[in-house]
Amino acid sequence: MKIIMLGAPGAGKGTQAKMIAAKYDIPHISTGDIFRANIKNGTELGKKAKEYMDAGNLVPDELVVDLVIDRFKDDDCANGYVLDGFPRTIPQAEALDAALSKIGESIDYVIDVDVPDANIIKRMGGRRTCPSCDSIYHVDHMPPKVEGKCDKCGGDLIIREDDKEETVKNRLAVYHEQTQPLKDYYDKQGIVHSVDGTIDRKDVFAMIEKILGE
Ligand code: AP5
Ligand code: MG
Repeated sequence: MKIIMLGAPGAGKGTQAKMIAAKYDIPHISTGDIFRANIKNGTELGKKAKEYMDAGNLVPDELVVDLVIDRFKDDDCANGYVLDGFPRTIPQAEALDAALSKIGESIDYVIDVDVPDANIIKRMGGRRTCPSCDSIYHVDHMPPKVEGKCDKCGGDLIIREDDKEETVKNRLAVYHEQTQPLKDYYDKQGIVHSVDGTIDRKDVFAMIEKILGE
């Protein structure tokens, strides 16, 4: 099962992708998490990506596409994957389609998590993440058991660098300009399924389960 998560920054792509990965036993591939791990480890890729990410802009396509397509060669991708944050531009989507069609494969589902901009700006101020295991929390909607600590690994939770309100506004503008057109791109392939991302995360997941099958 090959799935793409579409949706604005903060719509809940990562939250839902983790639940999909656990239930359907496929890897969760988040380009944002890959870049953040590279920044943390001080790699060349991380140094290049950081300036774009901190400003809320997209990292250039040429730094993203090969990284993801190479990841598909790993054994854990044999039964598919859930892509979160990729593709994000039409050229990335075209490169993905070209790479898959070369091996006679294609994307099965595009899940579009729909949340209005006003909800997103409110939501992002409360997000906390674990830089060690990439778990996602929210101070109101999904608080950790112990304040400031990750339930899973005990790591110290942080506020992401790009979650400042001004940066979130730019990320939303970039999303509307460069990523939202992907909905039309995949609509033409008849594989887009939209879900309401404003309801409780468990109810969002129940809608996704209906789409993917139990
Ligand atoms: P990335 O990490 O992908 O960020 P994003 O798309 O902006 O999305 P987020 O991770 O912010 O949000 P999300 O939808 O995953 O929401 P979450 O589940 O955390 O990318 C970061 C940057 O990397 C980009 O800006 C770009 O620079 C670069 N980049 C990455 N990929 C790239 C690419 N392909 N090309 C170029 N550049 C790339 O949820 C958000 C919050 O809401 C959490 O606190 C969560 O607990 C809460 N929440 C979730 N669901 C609900 C719910 N139903 N109700 C209430 N609260 C909820
Ligand atoms: Mg995310």
